[in-house]
Amino acid sequence: MKNSKKIRPNVKSGLNLILIIIIFGFAFSFSSCSSGSGNGEAKTEPSAEKATPSDKGIGPISKVDLVAIDENLASSGKAVFESKCTACHKIDTKVVGPALAGVTKRRKPEWIMNMILNPSEMTQKDPVAKGLLGTYIAQMANQNLTQDDARAVLEFFRSNDSK
Ligand code: HEC
Repeated sequence: MKNSKKIRPNVKSGLNLILIIIIFGFAFSFSSCSSGSGNGEAKTEPSAEKATPSDKGIGPISKVDLVAIDENLASSGKAVFESKCTACHKIDTKVVGPALAGVTKRRKPEWIMNMILNPSEMTQKDPVAKGLLGTYIAQMANQNLTQDDARAVLEFFRSNDSK
């Protein structure tokens, strides 16, 4: 009897210790988790913050959230590119329009999609696109892509630029 009374408090404090460990464990994993996702956001946010309106171009796209490259989306973008864009563009050499290798390094994702979706307003009002029109003389055609198709083409460019 005396022994069992002595053991109980020990068991209780043992349980308390385990609880404390679990709680700390949770707190720690949550804090490391949130700092982890914070880092993930930090990767995409600076470029979005740095972008001035003219960096993003003029058109329907005001914000593109980039995550890791989706190769499936990229390959459907490649198909769109090959059917709608190769009359005037190649990846590695200039044709009627500029070579598109490295385009995701020199332009913001929003700018690229606005150029695809709204090329005539872009070449009239966006200073960078205006400059390109001055160099290439020909006006880029609006190929009437949906926003989803334009997003897929952007993914194709991202994938291509990552290789
Ligand atoms: C009729 C020819 C033509 C077609 C078709 C065309 N483009 Fe263009 N593109 C141009 C020209 C020319 C420019 C340079 C700006 C200008 O002069 O209008 C350009 C510029 C661009 C730019 C900017 C390049 C840079 O260096 O900043 C991107 C991106 C682009 N085109 C993507 C596309 C995509 C994607 C398609 C297919 C959906 C496409 N273009 C279809 C002619 C074309």
